[in-house]
Amino acid sequence: MEAAPAVDAPALVFVGFMGAGKTTAARAAAAALGAHAVDSDAVVEERLGQRVEDYFASHGEEAFRAHEEEVVCGLLAAPPGPAISLGGGAIGSARVREALARHVVVLLDVDPDTAWRRAGGRRPLARDRERFEALYDERRPVYESLADAILTDSSREVVRRAVPAIAALRATPPGTRMLWARSASRDYPVYVGDGVLGAPREIGGRSFLVTDEIVGALHGARAGDVAAAVSIPPGEAAKTWEQAGRVLRALAAARMGHDDHVVALGGGVVGDLAGFCAATYQRGVPVVQLPTTLVAQVDSAYGGKTGVDLPEGKNYAGAYHQPAAVYADPTVLATLPGGELAAGWAEVVKTALVAGGPLWERVRRGEPGVDADLVVACARMKLAVVAQDERDAGRRQVLNLGHTIGHAIETATGYTRYRHGEAVGLGLLAALTLSDQPALRAEVAALLATHGLPTELDPAVDHVTVLGALEGDKKRRGGRVGFVLVEAPGDVRTGRSVRDDDLVRALGELSA
Ligand SMILES: NC(=O)c1ccc[n+]([C@@H]2O[C@H](COP(=O)([O-])OP(=O)(O)OC[C@H]3O[C@@H](n4cnc5c(N)ncnc54)[C@H](O)[C@@H]3O)[C@@H](O)[C@H]2O)c1
Repeated sequence: MEAAPAVDAPALVFVGFMGAGKTTAARAAAAALGAHAVDSDAVVEERLGQRVEDYFASHGEEAFRAHEEEVVCGLLAAPPGPAISLGGGAIGSARVREALARHVVVLLDVDPDTAWRRAGGRRPLARDRERFEALYDERRPVYESLADAILTDSSREVVRRAVPAIAALRATPPGTRMLWARSASRDYPVYVGDGVLGAPREIGGRSFLVTDEIVGALHGARAGDVAAAVSIPPGEAAKTWEQAGRVLRALAAARMGHDDHVVALGGGVVGDLAGFCAATYQRGVPVVQLPTTLVAQVDSAYGGKTGVDLPEGKNYAGAYHQPAAVYADPTVLATLPGGELAAGWAEVVKTALVAGGPLWERVRRGEPGVDADLVVACARMKLAVVAQDERDAGRRQVLNLGHTIGHAIETATGYTRYRHGEAVGLGLLAALTLSDQPALRAEVAALLATHGLPTELDPAVDHVTVLGALEGDKKRRGGRVGFVLVEAPGDVRTGRSVRDDDLVRALGELSA
């Protein structure tokens, strides 16, 4: 393979912290594009005639950074190949950050423990663990602000699969970001950005649109060319076996084939139902999720849980079926009714409590606006959990925070009194009482109220019926309901048992 001559086309530029695997990833990406990768550290070493650590030791960091800036700016001005990896600190230079603007910047995300395991003790800035972590915290927001694509795995196979999806960013509206989602059953791209709903989609075969009557009328025209479209009535009441049967028959009548795919345009109801139809149609066809509610953009479109409700219970029939791709366009939320937006905020607050860190810090400020950053942060949290545990064997249960009592409230009120998100908000407050976190509970209650969510249970709701619904849940799960409790934002524990009198107290506090 020959290195490609310098070209004007944007390159894929891999950035990230020490130990993230940038060099390996850039090599894999270049190989997938039939070329050689360029590593900025290697070019700097060639120019200096010595190893980075030796130069660091004799001349200090500042002198090294000056050489690095020259080299990197040169590479970015005339990329010698389609994939370049940068030294972890190169983005400290304003000139480098500016020069990156015309390229596709790929962040290889790595957690501090993994980074330390790989780089600790071996690099000039990785001698001392505390300094290493401080540097990690300092650089992280810079990497994130530059990233067009975020990968959490630098292995050759994963990068090879992700390269076409990264390259496809060139055809999306400016500012679009791509997250590469991983799970045991499949990997897929998640594109988030204003206007991305209308972007060309990189998936073969014909598109068969499934939507609801409201969303179809508002946004259907932006969902691209489709071979056929089928609508269900709006709302949870349509998430049924009967509607799924109708959709499956409509797909069959339109002669959808195995090489075609379903496009799910709508909120969580459409996403779950269309995903379920895709999982079962001819034993499985791909589904592309185009989420249009806040609930769907921050939560339900990712992770592959699909299904319908039965009269006997919510989500009683379903399948795991990961999407082939997700396109989340926050601009479509402009038409979402206020109550639906509020319901989505309950999931945002839940996600932030599970994630802790910068997401919790942002969410606790209570700002009302939703933007692509918020969607990206929530999606990343969920994707990280699903990557570890696709099928709810352990870690994924953290996502049920607030849902145990939330579901019991929904069941006890016949799914009509509260929206799912509203019940989850109340469930979060009960979970915080059970977690013995009065200050955090007060803070979350104030946050939910800011977003227009209820913080007190309607006095007409009978606590005994809610406790009965929890008992029903217990039977379903072999005699035990494992509660998800919060030690602190970012530290959430699953499988906790809770005493009956504490449950009574938590419900009592909800009605106080
Ligand atoms: N699969 C998962 O992991 C997962 C996670 C969370 C929730 N869910 C499921 O999601 C469902 C709730 O989803 P939801 O809250 O999105 O409700 P939804 O899909 O019923 O949408 C709510 C309402 O908003 C309308 N709507 C949607 N997008 C709109 C837009 N852009 N402009 C105007 N109106 C719009 C819909 O027509 C509907 O009337 C529940 O069934 C829940 O079980 C699934």
